[in-house]
Amino acid sequence: QPSNFQMEESSGLSRENCRAKGGAPGFKVAILGAAGGIGQPLAMLMKMNPLVSVLHLYDVVNTPGVTSDISHMDTGAVVRGFLGQQQLEDALTGMDLVIIPAGVPRKPGMTRDDLFNINAGIVKTLCEGIAKCCPNAIVNLISNPVNSTVPIAAEVFKKAGTFDPKRLLGVTMLDVVRANTFVAEVLGLDPREVDVPVVGGHAGVTILPLLSQVKPPCSFTPEEIDYLTARIQNGGTEVVEAKAGAGSATLSMAYAAVKFADTCLRGLRGDAGVIQCAYVFSQVTELPFFASKVRLGRTGAEEIYPLGPLNEYERAGLEKAKKELASSIQKGISFIRK
Ligand code: NAI
Repeated sequence: QPSNFQMEESSGLSRENCRAKGGAPGFKVAILGAAGGIGQPLAMLMKMNPLVSVLHLYDVVNTPGVTSDISHMDTGAVVRGFLGQQQLEDALTGMDLVIIPAGVPRKPGMTRDDLFNINAGIVKTLCEGIAKCCPNAIVNLISNPVNSTVPIAAEVFKKAGTFDPKRLLGVTMLDVVRANTFVAEVLGLDPREVDVPVVGGHAGVTILPLLSQVKPPCSFTPEEIDYLTARIQNGGTEVVEAKAGAGSATLSMAYAAVKFADTCLRGLRGDAGVIQCAYVFSQVTELPFFASKVRLGRTGAEEIYPLGPLNEYERAGLEKAKKELASSIQKGISFIRK
């Protein structure tokens, strides 16, 4: 291990002790896959989040450099780096929130499901570590295919006897962020004023924007609905093609991940009325997992909201989404049970 890596760790420790004496509030957050395309900007943005007191950066490569770099930012969070499987347990111990962007991204022509074979194993290993070292942490799972990796995580936690459905959240926030942006463009509004619920899952037709429930209340022509639905469902592919082999969305994803993590931390702090879309263990449909609006509290996703009134277009979309979701969920479950 490079010697400066150790130095970052020890200077971090002494500062943390000072903070603990002062009783400064804050949560302990780990990022697994912290040296990647999403991981690096995500680490930077989490270092800027005043709700974070300790930030653990774990990856199988390059964490010494990323940790050294981020640790020079003059914000409150203490940063520590962890490199390789043998440091996974130290990275996870004591964490309140674990964010997972570890795994390979898409290249042009690939679906998210094409990533299954590599990412399923990565998510399994990381979740075994969580079950052992921080079974009460909230988990934000970003690694694709999210529709299958969340069921994989649930199976790993069930096997370990630590599964708490409230604490396992698949991150679909980027679909909401994209929907808000594209809808605001069509309506000529500031995207910060727009709220589009996006339900279902996180791949192709499983991404179901509920344009009839947009806030502020508005209406769209049938052409606008077709355009917006297709653009929101294919937003990820738009970026994959533009990057032409260099990966998938990383910067907008890091932004979305931080927006979502911040929601989880405000919930943990006990803030009232913290609501966001996420892919969770759910009874909203007949499927065991489904994305919809959830209320985040001290114990995670404490309330899962029903879909609300859907129009005919959305009901048809829901049927398509459920069909694909059912097989992605089964694929994840079978991976662990086989
Ligand atoms: P990347 O390849 O740039 O970074 C992935 C990082 O994971 C690398 O640093 C790699 O070393 C690390 N890694 C690999 N195996 C690991 C292990 N066993 N333990 C810890 N770290 C490990 O990929 P990028 O662009 O950051 O994407 C990461 C994942 O996020 C992909 O699966 C991608 O499909 C997914 N994604 C999800 C989105 C969502 O909306 N949920 C949006 C965009 C990407």
